[in-house]
Amino acid sequence: MTTTKDAKKTGGLAGIVAGDSAICLCGVEEQSLRYRGYSIEDLAKNASFEDVAWLLTRGQIPSHDELKHFRDNLKKLRDLPSTLKDILDLLPGGSNMMDILRSGCSVLGNIEPESKGHSQLAIADRLLASFSSMLLYWQKFHHTRQRPSLDTHEETIAGHILHLILGKKPEELHRRCLDVSLILYAEHEFNASTFTVRTIASTLSDFYSAICGGIGALRGPLHGGANEAAMALIEKFQTADEAEAGVKKMLAEKQLIMGFGHRVYTTSDPRSAIIKEWAKKLIRNAEDQRLYDIAERIEQVMWNEKKLFPNLDFYSALAYHFCGIPTQMFTPLFVMSRIAGWSAHLIEQRSNNKLIRPISNYTGPEPRKWSR
Ligand code: COA
Repeated sequence: MTTTKDAKKTGGLAGIVAGDSAICLCGVEEQSLRYRGYSIEDLAKNASFEDVAWLLTRGQIPSHDELKHFRDNLKKLRDLPSTLKDILDLLPGGSNMMDILRSGCSVLGNIEPESKGHSQLAIADRLLASFSSMLLYWQKFHHTRQRPSLDTHEETIAGHILHLILGKKPEELHRRCLDVSLILYAEHEFNASTFTVRTIASTLSDFYSAICGGIGALRGPLHGGANEAAMALIEKFQTADEAEAGVKKMLAEKQLIMGFGHRVYTTSDPRSAIIKEWAKKLIRNAEDQRLYDIAERIEQVMWNEKKLFPNLDFYSALAYHFCGIPTQMFTPLFVMSRIAGWSAHLIEQRSNNKLIRPISNYTGPEPRKWSR
């Protein structure tokens, strides 16, 4: 346990154990990641995102029947209540997409509030199925002024998301890339947004309030927003040589290079190699190759200059770009995946709840008397 005196050394709660959890293990020594005991490499190779969402929220791998039933149910939960559509119609067309998801979640909490009829698992599934519908409904409505259909007939969440974004059935390679990316983004123990979700849940607040808090925490560029910033960085350069010079200059000016470094991992992010491999698989033309070469050069420079390694966000940005996904949707995709982990943590927090309320290290003025 950390005392008030130690708190100065642990800015941002780095290295502090803030509670027990049986959901996910970030192996610091071996730089590994496991969800409920399964390695991320095993899951990315053999599981689907629906398998992983079930594993996280229910504790074990679904049987074939459970998976089929789960997918069928998620398909039924994709469409949105008309009141939610009405409100999405009224939100500004130029809104930040994370604000749309936060507002959409909040509105759904009014229409289908947590109650006996809407259990916590039912809400977890509803949000898992409908975040992509909320975002793409809003985007298409403001683009065309017509209510779009949200019925894609796709079997999987990844397929549904990509179909809505691209407006057509996605290529299987792209669908599976997004599926793997959703697996990689689904869970990461006590990161800032998950801890926010648990803190809100610990007050005995409702499911939607906790998830709205998580979206708010994820929106920042030091957390979920890093994938969009990483793409902007890669696209800023014309050649790998230009990227090398530019990144060295940024480092000399003490600028942060988005998509690099991690609070828990010290030498590599185990998720990065998996998504980098996918980005490489998706290269189709000279332009893709140029962006990939620029990214690899940035990776080299960051290692040589700072011993910093790419985190999941860096090559995810490139993989998403190669799938045809617009950059401003990268962080919302993180929400569509992390809802699985947030829900698992919320349920776990409630199962053995204790109000989360740490203490601060006071640095203000000495005691004084009121006088104007
Ligand atoms: N670019 C440049 N320098 C970086 C860096 C980055 N991405 N990440 C860390 N550093 C530097 C810091 O400036 C600091 O240097 P200093 O000792 O000279 O001041 C040193 O490395 C230690 O960094 P610190 O900020 O204490 O590490 P942290 O554990 O607080 O930060 C992150 C972790 C993730 C917030 C940080 O690495 C970062 O901001 N990365 C970019 C954003 C990002 O990719 N976020 C997604 C995380 S999954």
